[in-house]
Amino acid sequence: MIRHHLFLFVLSIVFLSAVANESVDIASEEPHPDPNEEDYAGMAYIGRLDDEGRRVGFDQDNGIKFIFGTSFDETHKSIAEADLAHAHYGPDAEHDIADRSRGKTREQVLHEQRIGQLDLSKGPKPFGWFEEHPLDGGAVPPRVVRVDPFFIDVAPVTNKEYGKFVRATYYETEAEKFGWSFVLGSFLPNASSLETAEVDPEAEDWVATDKAYWRNPEGPGTSYKYRENHPVVHVSHRDAAEYCKWVGKRLPGEREWEAAARAGHFGPNNRTLFIWGEDQDVSVAKEYANLWGAGPFPWENHAEDGYRGTSPVKNFKPNAFGLYDMTGNVWEWMRGGKHKARIVRGASYVDSLDGTFNHAATLGARATLHGTTTTGNVGFRCVKSPKRRVEHHWVYENDEDSEAHLVLENADGSRQFSSTKPKQQHEDDEFDDEKDHDPTKPRPDEKRGRKKVVKPRTLTSDEL
Ligand SMILES: *[C@@H]1O[C@H](CO)[C@@H](O)[C@H](O)[C@H]1NC(C)=O
Ligand SMILES: *[C@@H]1O[C@H](CO)[C@@H](O)[C@H](O)[C@H]1NC(C)=O
Ligand SMILES: *[C@@H]1O[C@H](CO)[C@@H](O)[C@H](O)[C@H]1NC(C)=O
Repeated sequence: MIRHHLFLFVLSIVFLSAVANESVDIASEEPHPDPNEEDYAGMAYIGRLDDEGRRVGFDQDNGIKFIFGTSFDETHKSIAEADLAHAHYGPDAEHDIADRSRGKTREQVLHEQRIGQLDLSKGPKPFGWFEEHPLDGGAVPPRVVRVDPFFIDVAPVTNKEYGKFVRATYYETEAEKFGWSFVLGSFLPNASSLETAEVDPEAEDWVATDKAYWRNPEGPGTSYKYRENHPVVHVSHRDAAEYCKWVGKRLPGEREWEAAARAGHFGPNNRTLFIWGEDQDVSVAKEYANLWGAGPFPWENHAEDGYRGTSPVKNFKPNAFGLYDMTGNVWEWMRGGKHKARIVRGASYVDSLDGTFNHAATLGARATLHGTTTTGNVGFRCVKSPKRRVEHHWVYENDEDSEAHLVLENADGSRQFSSTKPKQQHEDDEFDDEKDHDPTKPRPDEKRGRKKVVKPRTLTSDEL
């Protein structure tokens, strides 16, 4: 009996010291880099600023919270000012951290409360129950989301910039591989070719044009040459993602894009319908966005904004964050989605202010396209995350076969295996006390009985 206890005691010392050594490594890490020391040409920083206008560092919650979603409905009204308040991370920050011992995040609780308020007797609707603003093509019910800080290109990627990429990498766009792309029929130089043209049945004004691609935006005989500072078009989701990767960036997430587009007007009382505010007057809109204008689509564009098709980037006024062309000019590819259903945001030069043709150019303008779609009105811009210290996630491997060992998972998903592998994991009462648990160590419940546990945001810094 005594021997048995002694054995367990020795075993637990070995096990505990292995764990202790691992956490020492983490505690001695470098602090997070200061986001104030980082800047990229042509990019704006989107994240929380302190009272002096400096970027809040990673020792605090430095993301922005805003009401994401594109419709103005009852759900939106029930989101209170307090829901946008920032809570710090830490052992007693219940709100932002998924905390299994307490069960739910604040967001989940709020979500459930709202679901409970829905009147299902009014019948099913395709995307759940919410009412759209008459001017809003929104299909996303509003909810509070938090977005980590990021840098975003102040303007869409231009033909000139894309040309540099193609010359350096010999990259062949998907429109070149497929041999055609969609061009707005009324833009084709040869009107008689329209009679035999193949069109997209969903969008009859767009003509499948042989050999149209970014260099020849309306097919052979046309050129981007006089449009070097216009956004690149006829690029697929992949063509866009490859460019961003080449310049060390990535495509924006939809929430990131919307946080940037709303430019501080994110609250229950100051959300706006358009990037410039609430004004639905063409004279205001034409200062900020390249839209179709007043002429009937697709043949007549009075070009109140000065352009029939794409316009040079930065030609119109920026939003309050200094970002150009967030509405109009070209739609922009978003990260994520599925190959068959990628999201574009922002509307383009064929869209109207009030939705009388094509999309209404509101902040909620959103469309789903197949990833390989290329057209003369879809482009993109890139974003980049600020540098930060690697955060470790704790993972247990092979828990079921007593070969359990600790693995440190870096934020990029790569794994470091611990050098010491405890041969056997045993029940240890010391870890049962939830209150005393050190946030730099895996939670007690993660130590046992689970094959693999990944904590989405393990606290490893001593500022917490
Ligand atoms: C933990 O670190 C100490 C001192 O660095 C060392 O003596 C000990 O052997 C280590 N334990 C294990 C299990 O690696
Ligand atoms: C215009 O298109 C028609 C039909 O496709 C073709 O027969 C004709 O040669 C084209 N004209 C020019 C100038 O390209
Ligand atoms: C919009 O409202 C939020 C609070 O709901 C506030 O924090 C923010 O500063 C306001 N934005 C502007 C531009 O006034």
